[in-house]
Amino acid sequence: MTLPLRRSAHSKVELLREKLLSAWARSDEIFAILPAHEMLTQPIVWRHPFIFYVGHLPAFSWNQVCGALLGWESCNSEFDELFCRGIDPDVDTGECHWHPDVPEEWPTLFQTIDYRDNVREQLLAAIEAISDSAASDVMAQNGRVFQMVLEHEAMHQETLLYMMQQLPLVKKLRSRIPLRYFFRPMHGSEMVRIPAGKARLGARFEALDFGWDNEFNQTIVDVPAFAIDSLPVTNGQYFEFVCSGAYEDARYWRAEDWRWKQLENKHAPTCWFKQGEGWFYRAMFDVFALSQVYGWPVYASLAEARAFAKWRGQRLPSEAEFHRAAFYGPDGVETSYPWGEESPEYHNGNFDFNSWSPVPVGSKPEGASRWGVFELFGNGWELTDSEFTPFAGFKPYIAGYPDYSQDFFDGKHFVLKGGSWATSADLLRPSFRNWYQAHYPYVFAKFRCVAN
Ligand SMILES: [Fe+2]
Repeated sequence: MTLPLRRSAHSKVELLREKLLSAWARSDEIFAILPAHEMLTQPIVWRHPFIFYVGHLPAFSWNQVCGALLGWESCNSEFDELFCRGIDPDVDTGECHWHPDVPEEWPTLFQTIDYRDNVREQLLAAIEAISDSAASDVMAQNGRVFQMVLEHEAMHQETLLYMMQQLPLVKKLRSRIPLRYFFRPMHGSEMVRIPAGKARLGARFEALDFGWDNEFNQTIVDVPAFAIDSLPVTNGQYFEFVCSGAYEDARYWRAEDWRWKQLENKHAPTCWFKQGEGWFYRAMFDVFALSQVYGWPVYASLAEARAFAKWRGQRLPSEAEFHRAAFYGPDGVETSYPWGEESPEYHNGNFDFNSWSPVPVGSKPEGASRWGVFELFGNGWELTDSEFTPFAGFKPYIAGYPDYSQDFFDGKHFVLKGGSWATSADLLRPSFRNWYQAHYPYVFAKFRCVAN
């Protein structure tokens, strides 16, 4: 979804106001899954406790909009600083980019919510202030800074949810939104041949109302012919891999991946667990017998996905191959979405918080690409084996956030494309790139295999 640049100034202000209010309502809904006494819980050691994120969302917004662009005086500069940046350490070494020191004691939930509400009020006032100002900063133009704040909030909503998925069910309050699960048997996957051709990665700066620095500039690449699974790998198929003994066989793993698996003592994907002789699956609010969710895509780390692909005698797709499979078709025409030009809707895929879990693979045939490759957008991010690197012409253009991407061009982060059930529709654009380390197993990320 993009900002309607042709609307009148008044309606643009109104629209931004509505978008902020609905983003905040969604964040509040997500935090409401946690009882107040769980706010200091830290389910993933590589992330802060939840209380940090209650403060981080407003602090980031304040710092970017009211601080960097408008130069307003803060009513709580201590919190602006404390909550300004989170952590994302190297999971193999524990090394981390710069971030504010972790306090001996975090502020209380009451203090943090008070700060949040204060910031929200000022952000609403800032919409008009920015649109009235003769903006010379590129971030002030066309509502870009607000689009950034909205996308930042949306990305954290998803990371919060995968953190919450790690918590035992008894530590969570069930969503007030009714839970609906689908378990019908899985569809058969087949290999779809994609002929050699061009793929456009990234975007021209002028082509997007807002894009993150790593999306620029546009890069055209030649992609040799390949064949790709029409559907992502399911829990059922991954279970066959585990049962074959290959998960415990170093021959199928890269040396560094095997080392991580052994150190972590991992014997199955993170959502799975074994009790007695039975295998189970932990979803956000319920536990299922693994066999019940055989048809759901398996959520795995890149290391686990690589091992599966090798066992199959195949490999994972590259970022460019994802683009060829998703946004092109036999006629060579490029589209904005795998299914064409229609804005993302419920029938196109399992994204935008339409459910609290994956759905069986192949459930959204209307979202297939024109080659017949299913659910490239939604139901889980798509792992690629492409290192997260800058496109030619990259420059950190966001003055208030110059190190957004740069710290992660380190050879240890890899590109994910598409989106999951917890990905906002606003992030579903061809040039959007997500990135994670190969040994970070918590993401709602699925994969499929390719062959040359
Ligand atoms: Fe953040």
